[in-house]
Amino acid sequence: MQQSDTLIVGGGIAGLSAAMEAAKHGSVTLLTKGKIGETATEKAQGGIAAAIDEIQDSTEFHFEDTIAAGAGLCDEKAVRILVNEGVQRVKELIEMGARFDRAETEAGGGFALALEGAHKRRRILHAGDATGEEIQRTLGWRVVSDNLAEIRQHTIGIDLILDNGRCIGLKALNIKQNTVEDFLARSVIITTGGLGQTYLYTTNPEVATGDGIAMAYRAGAEVTDMEFVQFHPTSMVQFEELKDIIALPRFLISEAVRGEGATLLNIKGERFMQKYDTQGELAPRDIVSRAIFNEMKQTNANHVFLSLAKLGADRIKKRFPVIYKTCLERGLDITKDNIPVAPAAHYFMGGIRTDVDGKTNIPGLYAAGECASLGVHGANRLASNSLLDGLVFGYRAARAASSIIDYPHLNAGNRASSQGNNLKLSETDIQRFKLIIKSNMWKNVGIERSAATLKQAMKMVNEVAKRFDHMPTTKEEVELRNLALVAGLISRAALDREESRGAHFRLDFPKSDDKNWKRHLVYKGG
Ligand code: SIN
Repeated sequence: MQQSDTLIVGGGIAGLSAAMEAAKHGSVTLLTKGKIGETATEKAQGGIAAAIDEIQDSTEFHFEDTIAAGAGLCDEKAVRILVNEGVQRVKELIEMGARFDRAETEAGGGFALALEGAHKRRRILHAGDATGEEIQRTLGWRVVSDNLAEIRQHTIGIDLILDNGRCIGLKALNIKQNTVEDFLARSVIITTGGLGQTYLYTTNPEVATGDGIAMAYRAGAEVTDMEFVQFHPTSMVQFEELKDIIALPRFLISEAVRGEGATLLNIKGERFMQKYDTQGELAPRDIVSRAIFNEMKQTNANHVFLSLAKLGADRIKKRFPVIYKTCLERGLDITKDNIPVAPAAHYFMGGIRTDVDGKTNIPGLYAAGECASLGVHGANRLASNSLLDGLVFGYRAARAASSIIDYPHLNAGNRASSQGNNLKLSETDIQRFKLIIKSNMWKNVGIERSAATLKQAMKMVNEVAKRFDHMPTTKEEVELRNLALVAGLISRAALDREESRGAHFRLDFPKSDDKNWKRHLVYKGG
C-alpha cells in the first residue's frame, strides 16, 4: 500500500499541470499506464490556443469562437476561465522553457501564431507540428527534475477505493510485475484522457481506452455529454487500408495544414467544401468531417484527398516537418502528392461531470482534461483548445483538491470490484471483443447515427459487457472492461438525444431542437 496527499492518475498535460500545483501543498503520486510521456498530449500536432496577441486578438474573441463551435452547450463560466486563465498558464509554460515557433516581427508577442478551423484570429502557438511533444517535455521535465511527484509508470487503475462514499484511493495493476497495489490519498485526481480507442479508426494512442471515466462511473460518479465524440476530418488513410486489408492506426494530418491553405478534393479531383459551408476548409470540425463523409459516400470511396499544392515545398518542410517525414516514410512526398484522408475519432467532449474546480459528485474525487466534462467545449471542441483545457483545469483541480486536509482511514474501503465469478478471458477472446466493440462503434455510433444503429450498438456492447462479472487480472482485461462500459454509455446517450447538435448527428433527427435538447444529459454510475 502506498499513501500520499494527492494521487494523480494520468500523465498528460492535465496530470502534469495538476502535479506541479499539488506538489506545492503536499506529497504527490502520479500513475501512468504506459511509459511517462506516452500520452495523447505527446501526439498533439496543431498547437495550443491562447489570445496572447493583445493587438489583433482578445480573450473576448477567443471566448466567442469557443462558444460558437460548442453549438449551444458551452458553459460560459467555464469558457471564461479557459480563455482568461489560459493566457497566464501559457505564459508560465513559456517561462518554464516551452519553445514555440517565433515570428520575424514582434506582432503576436513575437510568436508565429497559426490559424485553425473556426478561429476568427491567428492564435495557435505551436512548435512546428510537434507542439504536444514540446509541452509534454517541458512539464514532464519539471515534474521529474524537481522531484515533484513519485511517478509509477506502467500502472493502470482497476477501480477506485471508496470509504463511506468518499474516494480515498485506487486499486491499480502494475503491468510489468503483474501485481495489484492500493494507492491511498486524501484526494484523487483523474486525468486519464480520452477514449478514442473505442472506435476502429482513431487518431488517439493505444492508451486512450476511457479508463478514468469507466472507473469513476463504476464508483458512482456522474458522467455527462457522452454522446459528443469529435471526429477529426483529416487522418491519413494508409495504402493497406485503401486496399481494404486492415484497419491501421490513423496518423493525424493537423488542421493547421488547412489553416495554411491546404484544400480538400474528392476522388474525382473536385473541391467540395464551399458546397457545405462558407468557411470552406476552415469550417468547424463537425461540419468538415460530415462533408468528407458525405463525399466519400457519394463517390463510393474510403477517403478524399488533401492537397498541399498551394503551400510550396519549403514551407511544407519547415512548418510541418513531422507530417512531411511521416508521410515520406509511408510512401508519399506531400510536396507533390495529395494525401488520402478520412475522418477518425479524435476527442471526447463528454466525461466525468465536474465543476470548474474539477470537483465530481464523489467527495475526494476530482477530474480534469479530456476525461472530465464541464461544458468548456460544449457539443464540439474548438481546435487547439484541448491542451489549454488540460493546462488550466489540471491546475485548478489540484488547487481545489489540496484543500482536503484530513487523511482517509487506512484499510477501510469498498472492494466491490474484486467480487465476481473470476472467469478469465483468453487473449484471442480479448482481441476479438475489442474488435467487435471498435467496429460496432465505428459503424453504428460514428459520424452519423440513428435509433436503429444505436440500438444495434447497445445490444452488441451489452453482450460483451456481460463477460465482465469478474475482477480483471491483466491490462488487456482492464481495458476491455472499460471500453465496453464507455461504449455502452456513448451509445445510450446518443440514443437518448433525439436531435442533431455539434458532433452528434442523428439521421432520424437531423435538426437541432433547442426547445427540448439545449441541455446536458447526465448519467449517474454506481
Ligand atoms: C490538429 O492539429 O488538428 C489537432 C489539434 C486539436 O485537436 O485541437
